Amino acid sequence: MWICHCKGVTDGQIRSAIDAGARTPVEIGARCRAGTGCGGCLPEVCRLLDDHLTSQAYYAACASCPLLLADDESELVSAEREMRRGPPGRGRYAGVLDSPPVIVIALTLSAALLLIEVALPTFGVAGIGGFALLWVGLVGISQGHDTWAPLTLIAVSVSLWAVLLVRRTPSPSGQLTAAGLYALGTVGFGAMAASPGAVAVGVGATGALAATFPVLLRGANRLLDQPAQVGMEAFDGRKAAVVSWDSETNRGTVRLDGSLWNAIADVPVRPGDEVLVVGHERMELHIIPAPVAPW
Ligand code: FES
Repeated sequence: MWICHCKGVTDGQIRSAIDAGARTPVEIGARCRAGTGCGGCLPEVCRLLDDHLTSQAYYAACASCPLLLADDESELVSAEREMRRGPPGRGRYAGVLDSPPVIVIALTLSAALLLIEVALPTFGVAGIGGFALLWVGLVGISQGHDTWAPLTLIAVSVSLWAVLLVRRTPSPSGQLTAAGLYALGTVGFGAMAASPGAVAVGVGATGALAATFPVLLRGANRLLDQPAQVGMEAFDGRKAAVVSWDSETNRGTVRLDGSLWNAIADVPVRPGDEVLVVGHERMELHIIPAPVAPW
């Protein structure tokens, strides 16, 4: 007879596990995987343990079984959740990482860092941190037994925010859609995992990301609007000093950052004049006399 439908375990296999030395539901799960899925079969696993063993060793083990000790439904739920985390040694941080609020926090921080990487030049630091936290979230999801499907909405939402950043569009409807998807993903995950903490974190995280997006967009725009820092364009707006000048061709040489450059002007200048670079043609700078402050 099937007892654990999640893992496809029969009562015979569970009895074999008990015969082989399993004395608690956790040990049974470690041997035959019964009870390591949704946990719905754990009461039946405990009953099998109860039926099958009569030795003193059994009573000693079951005396501490949280399922049998649970007085009400909430205790039973938390006992089942505790046992579903599996036997010791399964993972050093199992039980922390698979907590729904921790999963939502990890995914939210990951989303924030990845969006920062898209918006600002962090030389990969934010991106690496984002992927590391994404990995932490995925480990938690893989170790937990909660329905993770709503979390796929988070991926869609972060992708939408990233597209808005790349396209430099403040589209209110786009931002609203991204925030809505994020809220649906996190709150839906928390609700299906029966975790009020995850729901609360999801609401807060959605608000924080929605509020951060305009700041990131402004930062991205400011960076992209900055004048070029490399190439001849980087000289535009810079001051130089005339070194020599041919007043007939209105061409000469100017010194800029310690280097000499060919220059051309529309108006006469003289050696020693301070001039302003206003453009260039190939390697020749276009200059005008530098404006003189009125004071
Ligand atoms: S039925 Fe056994 S874990 Fe789901």
